[in-house]
Amino acid sequence: MTLKIVLAVTSCAIGLGVAYQMPQPTPAQLATQAASVEDRQKMLDLLQITSLRRGADGRNPDAPNAANYDESKANPYPKLPDPLLLKNGRPVKKAADWWKLRRPEIVEDFDREIYGRMPKQTPAVTWEVVETTRETLGGVGSIKRRLVGHVDNTAAPQISVDIQLTVATPADAKGPVPVVMELAFVGFPVRPNAGPSWKELVLQRGWGYAVLIPTSIQADNGQGLTAGIIGLVNHGQTRKPDDWGALRAWAWGASRALDYFETDKRVNAKQVAIEGHSRYGKATAVAMAYDPRFAIAFVSSSGAGGLKLHRRNFGELVENVAAANEYHWMAGNYLKYAGPLQWNDLPVDAHELVALCAPRPVFISAGAVQGDGWVDAKGMFLAGAGAGPVYRLLGKKGLGTEEFPPIETSLVGGEIAFRQHSGGHTPGPNWPVFLDFAARYFKN
Ligand code: GCU
Repeated sequence: MTLKIVLAVTSCAIGLGVAYQMPQPTPAQLATQAASVEDRQKMLDLLQITSLRRGADGRNPDAPNAANYDESKANPYPKLPDPLLLKNGRPVKKAADWWKLRRPEIVEDFDREIYGRMPKQTPAVTWEVVETTRETLGGVGSIKRRLVGHVDNTAAPQISVDIQLTVATPADAKGPVPVVMELAFVGFPVRPNAGPSWKELVLQRGWGYAVLIPTSIQADNGQGLTAGIIGLVNHGQTRKPDDWGALRAWAWGASRALDYFETDKRVNAKQVAIEGHSRYGKATAVAMAYDPRFAIAFVSSSGAGGLKLHRRNFGELVENVAAANEYHWMAGNYLKYAGPLQWNDLPVDAHELVALCAPRPVFISAGAVQGDGWVDAKGMFLAGAGAGPVYRLLGKKGLGTEEFPPIETSLVGGEIAFRQHSGGHTPGPNWPVFLDFAARYFKN
């Protein structure tokens, strides 16, 4: 029993310096873990992988596999794949070649090896407004609608997916407004900001806010891979190695929310920002990369599997993401890079995920090493820097520097923005900076 409880402690606190006490797992949670271990094992068998390397230990600095926080050991593979070099060895010199030739190559690599392929056909979603209320937040009156996106499940009627979305816009808006949409945690201890909440800040600018619940699209565990949108499309069968994982599925749901915004007269669907933190920071980056309709992104503490370079040895690692409590975020094929293959064998890295967002603005955010070291702020900064050549090719500005800046420096002069705040694992302190950045692009 004791052993089970230790194994069951969820990963969210690992290495983040977050002091909250995780409750003891319920029997249902233990069953979910067991089923996830089993699903992952099936994938390993399919890939003929017999063992994987261990992840970094973020809790015990004396462990033999303790997470590394020493910058001098952080870059075993400093040479990144060149986002502007075609597979045939020819350099990309024109924007047209980026769009026509190179970008599709990068997308294919992310699809096959990292996030998995979204099915060619996904079921239709019918949005229903289930509740409309008036709410005053931060002194701004708003009209708030709660929606459910019913996913057509005629292909597998035993699986139902009902996407939960809330959108609030200022009551006195004269026309369509920009909207900031958060991919939100539910039932999770998220530290509130000091000062006004992001929703208040957004409404005070005359914009709207929206909240999307990713777990209503796809469960956040391996057991759930035979249900949710992934299971629905697979008719309840287990995934193939290049099938999509939860990050891609959450991003799919975000795109369906955007479909809805395109039909909502209160929303300017051309000015929708997407924001997410931690695992939902990863999903935010994926959504932004794959759906060009998102205007701007706030990618908070996305870490491994997000905008942290997979090739970095700092805090969490590829091996952590390959563990039984996280592998479901990714394609099955990603497991190979924690086993027989090395990080350096990945055909692409996180700087190319940023590059897929080009030329649209992306704000990369993290907390201090003390409290948020696990997600590797510098690894994410380097991904931003590495995408610079693509932004410049498309006539935009990147980060404007290759030098990692001192903490609390806002690098917001170009379309790739970066800021490390001194708080811990939270987007909180960077909200005002992001909203100022977004205001350069959003006009009421
Ligand atoms: C864990 C995990 C991170 C993730 C985080 C979260 O710490 O290792 O990759 O971002 O949980 O989502 O809270």
